[in-house]
Amino acid sequence: MSKPVYTLAEGQPLPNPSLSTTLPTFGGGAVTTLGDTLLIETLTHFNRERIPERVVHAKGSGAWGEFRVTNDISHLTCAKFLNGVGKTSKVLFRSSTTGGEKGSADTVRDVRGFAVKFFTEEGNHDIVGNHVPVFFVRDPVRFPSLNRSHKKHPATGLPDMNMYWDFHCNQPESVHTLMHVFGSRGLPTSVRSMTGFGIHTFKLVGHDGRFRYCKFHFKPVLGFSTMTPDEATRMAGVNADFHNQDLSLAIARGEHPVWKMYIQVMEPEQAETYGRAVFDITKVWPHKDFPLIEVGEMTLNRNPENFFAEIEQAAFSPSNLVPGIAMTPDPMLQARMFAYPDAQRYRLGVNYTQLPPNRAICPVYAPYERDGMATMGRNYGGDPNYVRSTLTPGVFSQSVQEVRHNEWLRSGAVLGFNEILVDDEDFVQPRALWNNVFDEAERRKWVANVTASLEGVLPEIQQATIAMFSRVEPQIGQMMEAQLKGSARL
Ligand code: HEM
Repeated sequence: MSKPVYTLAEGQPLPNPSLSTTLPTFGGGAVTTLGDTLLIETLTHFNRERIPERVVHAKGSGAWGEFRVTNDISHLTCAKFLNGVGKTSKVLFRSSTTGGEKGSADTVRDVRGFAVKFFTEEGNHDIVGNHVPVFFVRDPVRFPSLNRSHKKHPATGLPDMNMYWDFHCNQPESVHTLMHVFGSRGLPTSVRSMTGFGIHTFKLVGHDGRFRYCKFHFKPVLGFSTMTPDEATRMAGVNADFHNQDLSLAIARGEHPVWKMYIQVMEPEQAETYGRAVFDITKVWPHKDFPLIEVGEMTLNRNPENFFAEIEQAAFSPSNLVPGIAMTPDPMLQARMFAYPDAQRYRLGVNYTQLPPNRAICPVYAPYERDGMATMGRNYGGDPNYVRSTLTPGVFSQSVQEVRHNEWLRSGAVLGFNEILVDDEDFVQPRALWNNVFDEAERRKWVANVTASLEGVLPEIQQATIAMFSRVEPQIGQMMEAQLKGSARL
């Protein structure tokens, strides 16, 4: 293959990209000129090469791969990419920490993002989940506050555990997620050994138009493994990109990480009596009631060729749903369906769906979304740009469409506050985690991790935190008190 000749941005050949053009003066000095297009292009492009980082989940790593169906679920959904054993779809994956900035360390205690874009014959389908099965809040208006309380203090620009615990003590619906984050699960060894959960409840819509509720889960074939706090802290200093590097090197070595994907399924009739855990993402659906059903296998087998182009410009969104998988009346899900494309229009520009990592592999005909900054392609030529035209070449889709969720709208419903007060039910699942899932060693580690994060926190916030966890189990409060006083043998 012939070697590329250096050029300017619009292709004009360059003798040497490392030399600007100058007019010599006495003493070896020189005058640069506005006629030096190479110099101007180089400096001005450099000044514009940063884009806003993601407002949350800024630090991440990603790779390409494929998803293969291992168990046919065409009796549950008409989603074509899930129909038929052996059916294979290209995927783009990104994992991330939540709170840290783009340059922050990978091995910090945090919820990890677990985002997958499936490129299907009916458009892109995204599962934008996390590595723990539940979330901190159930009212979307609280999401910005949650994240600000985990980020840096507006006065000092420093992380601030007063803010962190002040938010959560006044927001005890977080308690279930905090139980996960402060346990061993809060420090995964690697991306390759991390679980993934879609968290929200979706609808699977069958060929016959019937629906069931469902949740998505990913389990790493390597098994879930975790780091100790000491290892994680050391690694955060030694190699801030440890997880990113581990994923990239493993793929380069041919050790392709694999996850099995499962669903849990709830019949609509069960949902009617199941209570608020149906759509409340601070709760799980216990496996004993809703067993995992294997669906397929995701393998990551290709590193990005260019991190910025393929991973930084990737735009995952819970609003990317293909026919056969639909949204539900979970206010968090609905708010996210708005928030992600909005963030991406700001971060990547209005035509971000035309960027390589987001471009659908199937034909796209959306002639009412055209023009705008950085339009690529032929922009629908002269096709009508208004609806209801008899001149349009477009036809309507015959695929099974979204099933409405108005079975949940109460008759005579009026707008009101989305206030689900925290009550005893919110402590049942965290209590089960503490008593039935954690062993003695894990309980001690959990208490040590939480109390370490409370060091230096205002006494009243420490006490409020102890009170919150005592509602999970009084023993937790006692262990925390003892540890904080430094008198416990934990
Ligand atoms: C109302 C609640 C939420 C809002 C408003 C929200 C908003 C956002 C926004 C604006 C981004 C940046 C998107 C971008 O610039 O590309 C983001 C990223 C992300 N969020 Fe959320 N989020 C919410 C809840 C959640 C929940 C419940 C989960 C897990 C189920 C989650 C998982 C993620 C992940 C994985 C990313 C990173 C995606 C990537 O790798 O590009 N978020 N979120």
